[in-house]
Amino acid sequence: MYSTGNRIAWLQGPNANCAKTGPVAPRPWHLVLLGPPGVGKGTQAEKIIGEFGACHLSTGDVFRHAARSTEAAAPSPAMATALAAMKRGELVSDGTVVELVRERAQCLACQYGFLLDGFPRTLDQAHALDGILARVERKLDAALNYFAPEPVIIARLSGRRVCSQCRAGYHVANKPPRVADRCDACGGALIQREDDEPEAIRTRLRAYAATCDPVLDYYRRQGLLREIDASGDPEAVFAQTRAVIQRLQPARAG
Ligand code: AP5
Repeated sequence: MYSTGNRIAWLQGPNANCAKTGPVAPRPWHLVLLGPPGVGKGTQAEKIIGEFGACHLSTGDVFRHAARSTEAAAPSPAMATALAAMKRGELVSDGTVVELVRERAQCLACQYGFLLDGFPRTLDQAHALDGILARVERKLDAALNYFAPEPVIIARLSGRRVCSQCRAGYHVANKPPRVADRCDACGGALIQREDDEPEAIRTRLRAYAATCDPVLDYYRRQGLLREIDASGDPEAVFAQTRAVIQRLQPARAG
C-alpha cells in the first residue's frame, strides 16, 4: 500500500518543496486519466495510488487550492479569470492551464511517477503536455478513459459532497458519511462544490462533449488509449483499472 502523500509542490507551485515520502514503486507509472466530469476519475486516482504508487496531479485541485488561498489575499488577474470560469463550469483557457502545468514540470519528473487528472482536456493541451514531458524526459504509459451514461454522471455530481476542512470526498447515496453532513475523518462540515450546482453541471458536460473527441483520437492513434466502463461501483471500476494497468508495459524514460 503506497501513501497518497502530500502534494504541496503540485498545489502551491514551483516555490514549494515536495513533501511526499515513502517507498517508490518498482515501476513508477506515468498515466493520464480522461473522462467526463463526475465519472469518478478522482475516486479511481486514490485507489490507483494506494496500489500502484504515483502522485495524484489534478488541475482542478490546483484551482480549488488557489480559490481557498485567495479568500485571504487577492488573486492575480489570470487566476481570478480562471476561478470565475471554473465556478460557471467553463474550461479555463489553454494558456493559463498549460502555464500552470509547465510551472509544475518537476512534479511530472518525480521519481514516484504521476496520475494526471483533468489535463489534458483539449488537443492543444495534449500537444503542450508532450512538449513538457519531452523536456523532463518522461513518456506516458497510457491514457485511461473512463466512460458512463450521462444520467449516472449527473447523479454522481449532484450527490457529491466534500469536507470543507480536509477535502475528503463523499456522496449522499453512494458514499454517505457516518454522521449526516459531517466528515468521518475530521468532523468538518460537508459542502457542495460550486460547480456541482445544476447549471454548472450542464455547462461542464457541454464543455467536455465539445473538446473530448480530438484528445481521445490523439491517444488512440498512439496506441495509448485504454477504455474503462465506469458505470459500476467504485470497486468494480477499480478491478478493471487494475487489470488494465497490470497489462501495461511502462514506457522507458528518455
Ligand atoms: P476537475 O476538478 O478536473 O473536475 P472534473 O473533470 O469536472 O471532474 P470531477 O472532479 O468533478 O469528477 P471526477 O471524475 O474526479 O469524479 P469523482 O471521483 O469526484 O475540474 C474542475 C474545473 O477546473 C473544470 O470545470 C475547469 O473549469 C477547470 N479545469 C481543470 N482542469 C482544466 C483543464 N485542463 N482545462 C481547462 N479547465 C480546467 O466522483 C464524483 C462523485 O461520484 C463522488 O461523490 C464519488 O463519491 C462518486 N463516485 C465516484 N465513482 C463512483 C462509482 N463508481 N460509483 C458510484 N459513485 C461514484
